Amino acid sequence: MSNLIINTAKIDLEYDKQHIWHPYTSMTTPIPCYPVESASGCEITLETGEILIDGMSSWWACLFGYNVAELNAAAVNQLSKMSHIMFGGLTHQPAVDLAKTLVEITPVGLDKVFFSDSGSVAVEVAMKMALQYWQSLDKNKTKFIALKKGYHGDTFAAMSVTDPEGSMHELYQDFVAKNYFTEQPCIHFDQEWQDSAMDDLTKLLSENHQQIAALILEPIVQGAGGMHFYHPHYLKSARALCDQYNVLLIADEIATGFGRTGKLFACEHAQISPDILCLGKAITGGYMSFAATLATTQVANTISEGKAGVFMHGPTFMGNPLACAVANANLKKLLSDDWQSLVNHLSTLLSQLKVCQDLDSVKAVRVLGAIGVVELNNPVELATIQKQFVELGVWIRPFGKLIYVMPPYIASEKQIKKLCDAIYQVCLSI
Ligand SMILES: Cc1ncc(COP(=O)(O)O)c(C=O)c1O
Repeated sequence: MSNLIINTAKIDLEYDKQHIWHPYTSMTTPIPCYPVESASGCEITLETGEILIDGMSSWWACLFGYNVAELNAAAVNQLSKMSHIMFGGLTHQPAVDLAKTLVEITPVGLDKVFFSDSGSVAVEVAMKMALQYWQSLDKNKTKFIALKKGYHGDTFAAMSVTDPEGSMHELYQDFVAKNYFTEQPCIHFDQEWQDSAMDDLTKLLSENHQQIAALILEPIVQGAGGMHFYHPHYLKSARALCDQYNVLLIADEIATGFGRTGKLFACEHAQISPDILCLGKAITGGYMSFAATLATTQVANTISEGKAGVFMHGPTFMGNPLACAVANANLKKLLSDDWQSLVNHLSTLLSQLKVCQDLDSVKAVRVLGAIGVVELNNPVELATIQKQFVELGVWIRPFGKLIYVMPPYIASEKQIKKLCDAIYQVCLSI
């Protein structure tokens, strides 16, 4: 079928293949790309006319699917006013409205908002905030602790706190800053808690806290590092340890934010507030790249009263009005559409994946909120499995040993069934 697509496509796939880099691919032996004509709701229409049910929400971003009337209207309305205006010395209502909503809905105490362009940049900003915070207090705390199997983005500071073994550290090891890594939280979300799960982090902090600026983690769900769901008590204890050892806590909710795990923010599973919070991906409902880093007043004021007197970051497209306007429409929809019922319903539907548990190829199945994961015993060959899924009429992009879905919140029972059936079929064939 991929031949058919290549022969009939109007989108110049050959040019694409010769000249355009896609994520994590080779320029000489790229895996096939499928040409998309349009997308609406939970359906992606390929140029060949085939319709695929979307299981990925375009990597966690499209909360309400594609071509969403309210988001389209917000974009068009904002375009006629201004799509962009510099944020240095100027401001606008969409940014103020968005900041107000974020301050209101995020865990308590996060009152200061820094807008940026993408998730990785939001992480860079968070790490710079932590460094500048301690600099302002004349403390030489310049290292971070991160979790093994964590993922925080592809820029350099983000890479320096991303899993050192399963990621790209090795390639850039002479350039990536050296940080500390604690063991992956070993107690799963629904297992019985044991205090010994904190031993490694406790030891690292007790031995090195004088150098540590912050602990950075993805709360509850470690995404790209293995789709691992860990126990809320870990997060609660990590917060307490950070307080005990005078270390900031950065929560990276770029993937987990806005309801995906069954709470509006994953920190709520443990009822904690971080000192710094990173948001991205779903903030604009997947319409455009945008992100925010929120900080407590204490962090913001300490930085502002320090040597530099300012926080030293200011991207060109900071506070982009078009993105803010779409984010406002997206969050309005999220908060008024009873997201909790939508996510709970998806969670129940995704439990159908549990039938895969009995298959020889499958190691484990887990579901949390609107995330469904089938972990295989062996890694998959991406091009082959991708083709199988397309032939079954679904868009699912596995990595390594993981087949996972996080569909748009509006996915219907029938659409979820199609996604789950396709996963079962593929697992059966492995
Ligand atoms: C937890 C987490 N942090 C940061 C990022 C980086 O975000 P972006 O790809 O928008 O730079 C990602 C992306 O997958 C992520 O999952």
